[in-house]
Amino acid sequence: MEHLKSYQEANKERYLEELMDLLRIPSVSADSNYDADVLKTADFIKNKLIEAGAENVEVCETAGFPIVYADKIIDPNLPTVCVYGHYDVQPADPVELWDSGPFDPIIKKTAIHPEGAIFARGACDDKGQMYMHVKAFENMVKNDALPCNVKFMIEGEEEVGSPSLGPFIREHADKFACDVVLVSDTGMIANDVPSICTGLRGLSYVEVEVVGPNRDLHSGIYGGAVANPANVLAKMIASLHDENGHITVDGFYDAVENVSDEERAAMNKAPFSLEEYKEHLDIDAVDGEKGYTTLERGSIRPTLDVNGIWSGYIGEGAKTVLPSKANAKISMRLVPNQDSETVTELFKTHFQKIAPPSVKVTVTPHHGGEPVVTPTTGIAYKAADKAYEKTFGKRAIPQRSGGSIPIVAMFEEVLGVKTILMGFGLNSDAIHSPNEHYGLFNYYKGIETIPYFYQYFTELSAK
Ligand code: BES
Ligand code: MN
Ligand code: MN
Repeated sequence: MEHLKSYQEANKERYLEELMDLLRIPSVSADSNYDADVLKTADFIKNKLIEAGAENVEVCETAGFPIVYADKIIDPNLPTVCVYGHYDVQPADPVELWDSGPFDPIIKKTAIHPEGAIFARGACDDKGQMYMHVKAFENMVKNDALPCNVKFMIEGEEEVGSPSLGPFIREHADKFACDVVLVSDTGMIANDVPSICTGLRGLSYVEVEVVGPNRDLHSGIYGGAVANPANVLAKMIASLHDENGHITVDGFYDAVENVSDEERAAMNKAPFSLEEYKEHLDIDAVDGEKGYTTLERGSIRPTLDVNGIWSGYIGEGAKTVLPSKANAKISMRLVPNQDSETVTELFKTHFQKIAPPSVKVTVTPHHGGEPVVTPTTGIAYKAADKAYEKTFGKRAIPQRSGGSIPIVAMFEEVLGVKTILMGFGLNSDAIHSPNEHYGLFNYYKGIETIPYFYQYFTELSAK
């Protein structure tokens, strides 16, 4: 594997330029103005996979954006690693808060990334991390060092809930037959504290509307006598947590699997500074469910958050109006054994129940997803563990993440295989936020570490 290092070193600049080219295409899946760019990105990936040495490279049509498939089967008796990633990105809004164009990648040094980081939408989530796999694959192929079979499944709808990938995998389960799914779309603790993500939260997402009078009213003539939907919605939302930060939705915790004291103790040994955390976010205090640490609140406990809220007059100056309706988007992060459809139903029932008779309430569900925990005992974890040890010089810490990648639960359900989450991003990389970036250290370290995973996974599979 030493010659991979020299090949990577010799091609470093090109690896970065290619990623910059990829980041210049604004593949925003949520906004139809970018449809052509999303399609262009699929073609870009396809061409790069061909150049890297993949076979059977296809841009597979779906009802939505296509899935890029590729493989290289060197021996059917060897194990197969299926790489999953996404080439779509979140919208760049609010664009005015970016220090440079979201689709004009530039490299800047930061305190956390002294060797430089690449700033662009999708740099970390997930183009930079997904592209590491294309380059790691190139490294292996060009150096005759591919130890097993590889498949690629790169989708363009992750940021909108993967509506097409689920049905596509169900229909073409044979195409994706493999021994493990390998994903880099999560984070690690710090550049000198490698960690392996061992869990993702699920998601239940609803939109609510509270309707009062049939039109906006004069707040002097009617105020105090007619229910104000904005007031009502605020009160209803406030009631969704009690004074201990518990969620009050009836039945919400019924299925929640409590994590053992032992596992909690291990989890809290991970390096974490509450002071640095607060400083990074410019907050004076943290907040959350009583009885749990910040690390626990952000990973093993379910949550309920308003993602957006609007009602009434929000233009310049003052307008005395009693709005006719008020709306909010609410997400709930779920943990093992909660089920997203069940939780959505519980929310619906609860929210209707707490509505006063003076308003009408509708709850509309959006896409959801199921939580996952990945085992730390199987050969995939062992192989990843050895790979990190090899390239970082220290063992990786297993850590559950608070984010969601809903499709991962389906890999197990439909393909019957486990997923290994080897993420190289940092929480401070500002994914989904203005000035998203990805460390050059992380990009190159990922490319270096991935081939070792292939090697160790193949070796351990043979035993
Ligand atoms: N890559 C993220 C998920 C993630 C980020 C997991 C960091 C762990 C650590 C993914 O692209 C994402 O943003 N997922 C969405 C859900 C999706 C249905 C839009 C999320 O978690 O909000
Ligand atoms: Mn992602
Ligand atoms: Mn994302």
